[in-house]
Amino acid sequence: MEYTSKTSPASLISSLGCSSCGASYDAHALHSLSSCCHLPLVARYEHEEPLHKEVLQNRPGTMWRYRELLPVLKKENIVSLGEGFTPILSLDTLAGKYNFRELLLKDEGQNPTGSFKARGLSMAVSKAKELGIEGCIIPTAGNAGVALAAYCARAGMKAVVVMPHHTPKAFREECYWYGAEVHLVDGLINDCAHKAKELNRDGSWLDVSTLKEPYRLEGKKTMGYEIAEQLNWQLPDVILYPAGGGTGLIGIWKAFHELKAIGWLPEETILPRMVAVQAANCMPLVETFFGRQPNAQQYVGKPTIANGLAVPRPIGEPLMLHVLSASKGTAIGITEEEMIFSLQELSSLEGLFVAPEGAALWMASRKLLAAGYILPEEQVLLLNTGNGQKYMENIENKYKG
Ligand SMILES: Cc1ncc(COP(=O)(O)O)c(C=O)c1O
Repeated sequence: MEYTSKTSPASLISSLGCSSCGASYDAHALHSLSSCCHLPLVARYEHEEPLHKEVLQNRPGTMWRYRELLPVLKKENIVSLGEGFTPILSLDTLAGKYNFRELLLKDEGQNPTGSFKARGLSMAVSKAKELGIEGCIIPTAGNAGVALAAYCARAGMKAVVVMPHHTPKAFREECYWYGAEVHLVDGLINDCAHKAKELNRDGSWLDVSTLKEPYRLEGKKTMGYEIAEQLNWQLPDVILYPAGGGTGLIGIWKAFHELKAIGWLPEETILPRMVAVQAANCMPLVETFFGRQPNAQQYVGKPTIANGLAVPRPIGEPLMLHVLSASKGTAIGITEEEMIFSLQELSSLEGLFVAPEGAALWMASRKLLAAGYILPEEQVLLLNTGNGQKYMENIENKYKG
């Protein structure tokens, strides 16, 4: 295992808290949603001695470098393929062409299994191992299923993956190679969630659906730690994130607050405005944020070439709305054609063949600049969540040279 420290992870986790009422739960037991409000649980950390940034020196370039602020207690339980510490790249050509002072892209497509889902599933599978679990089940739009399958293979655990029938072939093929049991369902991820519930009626597997266990969020939040550390503790003005279930958005915001709490970011640091980018075909958060529906509970979405954004009724909607309002952020929907055009610009002008989810961010930035929400002098960071190579059926023959 690539975890190189001689010491134990020394996690400072103290409890899990209900994301609605704050009720406390034992951090060392297995939990799903909170039993008080049936809402996601979030990990809390406490420390008596000050924790200095210098502890990061000489640590491995993976998300495990932040071990005090992660939930795994014993280093032998860490299931890692080297996830995290992905590069932040400058998009100078696009910035010059469209009049941005500084445009950055954190390339999560460089993670094991090709997406940021590696972070969440590495953490969830590690914690599952620590809690003695033998197998996990997941409803997925594709990338999360692949990541679960890979980390379960590495941990010697069973993985059951439930994904929509129309998911590009590369996602399910990869799951088979990792030895996962794959089920295909007509519909979107919410239909897969029903199927997963049915398959797991006897509770044989740990359900690692988005936010239904507390640890995928802990993996995803490391993107926030890295943004701060890699930019020398100076945060960007605006961060754009492609929001489906929203763990990245919620996790990055959590990370910034934790960094303030331990003093690695000064208390007076102005946090970035967080932008949730969705597909026009499935934009429940945009609709709720702009008051066109009370919430997403009845929202009906359509498939999109950005498979990960087809999440019509996200359980984390209230948490995402909180991030948008607390950060003075916003939400925006991007059409299929706009994603294709953006992918073409990112690949031909910057050499970045990103997932359609990531491509959507680029068009969102241009639109928000044109609308005056982003100012030309601001530093803007796009969080590209995945690699484009697995989406071939969605995009082939659409390049307009
Ligand atoms: C590439 C990619 N981007 C973004 C998302 C959305 O992630 P989340 O559901 O954590 O918001 C997904 C989810 O499948 C994805 O695969």
